[in-house]
Amino acid sequence: MKLNVCPTEERILRYHASDKIFHGVNAITWFILLITGAIVYFSNAPDATKSGLMFAHIVVGLIFTINIISYLLMAPERFAVTMKNLLEWDLNSILWFRNLGGYPRRFFHIPFGPVEVPPQGRYNGGQKMSYLLFFFFIFTLCITGWLLWVCAPLIGKGVFKPMFYFHVWGGVIITVLVVCAHIPLALLSWSHVTGLWRFGSGTISVEAAQHHTPLWFERDVVRVDIKEPKNQS
Ligand code: HEM
Repeated sequence: MKLNVCPTEERILRYHASDKIFHGVNAITWFILLITGAIVYFSNAPDATKSGLMFAHIVVGLIFTINIISYLLMAPERFAVTMKNLLEWDLNSILWFRNLGGYPRRFFHIPFGPVEVPPQGRYNGGQKMSYLLFFFFIFTLCITGWLLWVCAPLIGKGVFKPMFYFHVWGGVIITVLVVCAHIPLALLSWSHVTGLWRFGSGTISVEAAQHHTPLWFERDVVRVDIKEPKNQS
């Protein structure tokens, strides 16, 4: 099966348009939902402001929900590739936690675990754990959000309250992880960041792929030589 196309020697296709649209819309709407939700729940803003923000929260929540459903329905093969890579745990994924990818040593000079980082696949052990958590919360925050809004009168206080706290604190905890770990660690590979975020092709450099994901590069990347069409004249 051809998973990735490497049309030139320098670049590898890692993100398809659907991955880029899903991730971009998800990230932008996530922060809007966080800000609107946090002002409504944690601040002393006037009631009129809060009700306007709650309306915005629901409209953006609808876009957030449509985004994940569209990704599942319109690019199921891309979601499947992501899930396959997140759910496949080999020994190296587990050994990644012995030194947390070498980051404590590299950034804080803490001699934590062995010096060498075992070679990783498309995602390293830490990414597998955190992305599974992110997807779990993307789904459950959508579900709890709609249940809280639409079914509030039906579910009773005993169910409503725990669901509400799960919705609020789940969102807060994942945001802390995204801001303190996901974004700073993503920025370590500019090639991945631009591949995912720029308009246009979702390619990354061969150098970045070999450095961060050697097992993926070795096992899954397929080189395809695209030949120029012959001149018919
Ligand atoms: C605006 C700030 C963000 C930046 C710069 C960013 C950057 C990135 C990058 C570069 C990757 C690719 C990692 C790789 O392929 O090895 C990635 C993947 C991912 N990000 Fe983000 N991200 C951001 C916000 C978010 C938010 C808010 C969420 C949701 C909680 C999120 C969830 C994910 C997930 C689930 C993946 C893995 C799936 C995939 O590869 O498409 N990200 N992010």
